[in-house]
Amino acid sequence: MTKIAVVVGSTRQGRVSDRLAPWIAAEVKKSAEVEVLDLRDYPMPFFDEAISPRYNPERKPTPEVKKWLDKVAEFDGYVLATPEYNRSMSGVLKNALDYIAYEMDRKPVALVGHGSTGGAQAIATLRIALPGVGAVTVPQAVFLKDSVSEAIDDEGVLKPELRENPYGPQASLKDAVEALVWYATALAAART
Ligand SMILES: Cc1cc2nc3c(=O)[nH]c(=O)nc-3n(C[C@H](O)[C@H](O)[C@H](O)COP(=O)(O)O)c2cc1C
Repeated sequence: MTKIAVVVGSTRQGRVSDRLAPWIAAEVKKSAEVEVLDLRDYPMPFFDEAISPRYNPERKPTPEVKKWLDKVAEFDGYVLATPEYNRSMSGVLKNALDYIAYEMDRKPVALVGHGSTGGAQAIATLRIALPGVGAVTVPQAVFLKDSVSEAIDDEGVLKPELRENPYGPQASLKDAVEALVWYATALAAART
């Protein structure tokens, strides 16, 4: 079965991003295997390797970096949930991506942004960054403008009025996940 990772792109104290993970995972679970990757479980220093990972065949990642790389390599596709910090993706997510060599190569990514403008610029910066690690983004994305803590409860359940809105976040998530699983399945077959 197609394997999808949902990456929680904030490690901030009091973050709201962890509410997004069960909401996204429940949608992915309808059509694929899913695992939530919390960047708090993969603490890594700021990237300081001498050579870009894609151009370093002699690379010997530290155990904490290897743990992240080995985990990322397990999946056929990814949902990256990112807050927008100062008009960009979170720094911790960018740092985690900077360590990637070929683990995400030729694999699809769906983006879920949140913030007062729906994380639009965080999503835009990820669409610029991800080709650097060989990943492709699906056209559909989720731009969550509502306050996350008001929109999604502790268990990851979206408020009924947002769930039922045909143009709301649940509908966007469904479209994005459908596209992601389609590309993930097709590209997994193509890579073998
Ligand atoms: C340092 C910082 C910078 C932020 N900058 C922006 C921004 O430029 N645009 C925006 O729409 N929201 C911005 N926000 C709001 C966050 O994107 C929003 O509250 C998000 O849901 C926080 O996610 P988190 O709690 O998981 O970290 C910022 C928040 C922080 C903490």
